[in-house]
Amino acid sequence: MQHFLEVLKILDGAVNADRNKVLAYAEQLAAKLEANGDPRSAEGIRRTVRKGRTRDLEASRMTSALPVDGESRLALADERSYAAGEVRIVFDASSAERVAEFVRNIRGSAELMAGGVNLSPSLLMYGPPGCGKTEIAKYVAAQLDLPLLTARTDSLISSYLGSTAKNLRLLFEHAMSRPCVLFLDEFDAVAKLRDDQHELGELKRVVVSLLQNIDALDSNTVLVAATNHEHLLDRAIWRRFAFRLQIGLPTLVARRTLLEQFLAGQAPPAIPLEDLAIATEGMSGADIRTLCEEARRTAILNRQTGITDRDLLLRLARNRIADLDTLSTRDQLASARRLSPKLFTVRRLADLFSVSTGKVSTLLRKEGTT
Ligand SMILES: Nc1ncnc2c1ncn2[C@@H]1O[C@H](COP(=O)(O)OP(=O)(O)OP(=O)(O)O)[C@@H](O)[C@H]1O
Ligand SMILES: [Mg+2]
Repeated sequence: MQHFLEVLKILDGAVNADRNKVLAYAEQLAAKLEANGDPRSAEGIRRTVRKGRTRDLEASRMTSALPVDGESRLALADERSYAAGEVRIVFDASSAERVAEFVRNIRGSAELMAGGVNLSPSLLMYGPPGCGKTEIAKYVAAQLDLPLLTARTDSLISSYLGSTAKNLRLLFEHAMSRPCVLFLDEFDAVAKLRDDQHELGELKRVVVSLLQNIDALDSNTVLVAATNHEHLLDRAIWRRFAFRLQIGLPTLVARRTLLEQFLAGQAPPAIPLEDLAIATEGMSGADIRTLCEEARRTAILNRQTGITDRDLLLRLARNRIADLDTLSTRDQLASARRLSPKLFTVRRLADLFSVSTGKVSTLLRKEGTT
């Protein structure tokens, strides 16, 4: 029989309630029929596939009641949809490429499946706090036009023995009820090493249950997880993720773009963004955002036309130099100068720390930081 393979695969998908498989092989069958000179049958099949896909999309927009913790009655997750363009992330080139590849793989999952390649749509992000992991989860959901179901770690982890595993099951079942992105933020809280000496058997059970839930996910649920403590993750957990992405502190180019974005055209003209970007080395995206937003707030409340260089530099110095206000004037001047000789000129230092330019020069000379 012609096209026996496709018919068999469609049947197999139907018997195992795997909608994606059914639709993928139906598309493949349509393509073969068309190639063999039967465009009418091909179109008939494609119409049915389109109907199926539209229904999936509609179902994904319908939010059913969120599951709750049995004891506290708190919701185990939040759900929100994001429009493309609503989430603006500044990526470095390799992260951008990796995230785009993840999205491309999911969009093309039907073709991949038809080609016999199985895809587990899962991404694990790790790296220091405030560098955009949570934002990337929103971005992925927006790109895929799927709702983002963010687990609430605090309500997920129940103080009652055994309830955490039950909560995980409820959460995963809810996620599987329609296509969505399930986001497990602060993932280490539930995925800690099983041999952690300080924890009891409960934690081991939680990890085992997490593994089982991940394994039971179908290809309609995109799984995204994020952690700041990747060394705490169980090795078996790592293996479950097809895509792993380390998100580091922003590069110089990224910091410049972040500054541009967060200062929103209000940067003081006397301060080149390039120098500011150099001086923010080691700051996270979240730190840079806070710096810029605080400066903008001050400008608005003081009814200034824009951010003043004094305010911005003082905030930068306070952020980058530990306990700036408790240091001696000499140490304050020297550390600001070391941070950026271009930004912290003698004139500016005199203004910032209320000393004469002559004294600044003398103190810097003594420190050897002129
Ligand atoms: N690369 C980035 N591009 C754009 N915005 C960023 C970036 N990194 C950080 N931010 C800003 O910092 C804020 C915090 O970032 P986010 O919550 O995504 O960090 P995170 O890596 O998830 O941190 P944590 O590990 O603490 O949860 C965001 O709301 C965003 O405004
Ligand atoms: Mg986060």
